[in-house]
Amino acid sequence: MKIKSRSKTYSADIVDRHHIEKILKNQYRLIIIDEQVFDIYKNTLLKNIDLSSVYLFKAIESRKNINSALTICKKMAEISFKRKEELLSIGGGIVQDVTGFAANIYNRGVKWTFIPTTLLAQCDSCIGSKTSLNYLSFKNLLGTFYAPDRIYIYLDFVKTLTEDDYLSGLGEVAKFNIMSAKDGIDLLERNMGKLLGRDVKTLKLFTERSLKFKKTFIEKDEYDFGVRNLLNFAHTFGHAFEKVSNYGVPHGQAVTLGLITANHISVARNILDEKKAVRIKNIVVNLLSVPLKKTWFQTEQIVSAIKKDKKRSTAYLPAVLFLSNNRLKVFQDVKPEEVDRALNKLTVFLEKNNKL
Ligand SMILES: NC(=O)c1ccc[n+]([C@@H]2O[C@H](COP(=O)([O-])OP(=O)(O)OC[C@H]3O[C@@H](n4cnc5c(N)ncnc54)[C@H](O)[C@@H]3O)[C@@H](O)[C@H]2O)c1
Ligand SMILES: [Zn+2]
Repeated sequence: MKIKSRSKTYSADIVDRHHIEKILKNQYRLIIIDEQVFDIYKNTLLKNIDLSSVYLFKAIESRKNINSALTICKKMAEISFKRKEELLSIGGGIVQDVTGFAANIYNRGVKWTFIPTTLLAQCDSCIGSKTSLNYLSFKNLLGTFYAPDRIYIYLDFVKTLTEDDYLSGLGEVAKFNIMSAKDGIDLLERNMGKLLGRDVKTLKLFTERSLKFKKTFIEKDEYDFGVRNLLNFAHTFGHAFEKVSNYGVPHGQAVTLGLITANHISVARNILDEKKAVRIKNIVVNLLSVPLKKTWFQTEQIVSAIKKDKKRSTAYLPAVLFLSNNRLKVFQDVKPEEVDRALNKLTVFLEKNNKL
């Protein structure tokens, strides 16, 4: 798949093992690899990699900062890395964000190939050109738009993810497929068993659908001033759940909680058919694995987290809501009382499903 961005057209392709092995044979002078991925694959897929070019990066959220990006720039400076040369990075969203930022600022931009290894990075973050770093106490406060030149997606990587990380990625896959087409819900219902079993053939279909859908938004509005905002569906509340749990809930699982919350509001507003909302929540509840605490679902905390996130001081909150006709719409008038009712419904639903 080719994706048009303002600065270039780049590619994102689902490839097989043979293809990855071929790419790894190229002479990259700097390869940034998620330390955990390297540990798992060093005697198999990564066994022939040139170790003298490898920089291992421990992918933890607290290291997704400017110092880590500058360390990569320093590595490039030390080997007199040239603008026309190409970096390779292998890892999940954290490795992507840190390397993308470094690749963008070093020498005003160097070429960059990315091999995403988490489902979240494969089905979502690898395209869209965002590079984000945490700064002060703010998540993703620093950032640029800088896409890789080439993205190679090898889906078998997901087999070694923890269940929490795998289901986090699947949360985004489910969200995209619910949003994208009328048959998305049917397809998810029919294939949930295979998806939960990490069946690569099924994942290929769903990842392709997710990326194709995202592509239409980012090509129209790469810099997020208009339609790309709709991709924030489930994220207004999702970010709040991440925050109140102190990032104990992985991103995609927080998005799942956010999606159920947003749909409760849509149903209460009579803009989403209740039967459809029930089908959706019965699908996505399968994607919650981390232990949840009742204290995270208090309205006051969630509302204040959203206000901080969106830098709002007004009484009303913004949210992207899902409509019966499969469309999405940005609303600016969500009242805290609506959030309260939605959160109550959510906690009852989670209790009924033994998730709380
Ligand atoms: N730039 C964007 O557009 C964008 C979009 C969404 C999220 N993000 C960012 O991505 C980050 C989350 O990324 P993520 O969910 O991809 O995970 P991650 O990069 O945080 O990795 C999660 C864990 O999985 C491990 N891991 C990675 N690949 C593995 C594999 N194949 N097998 C076993 N373990 C593996 C990592 O070492 C880490 O411990 C957040 O910082 C988020 O803000 C960025
Ligand atoms: Zn997301």
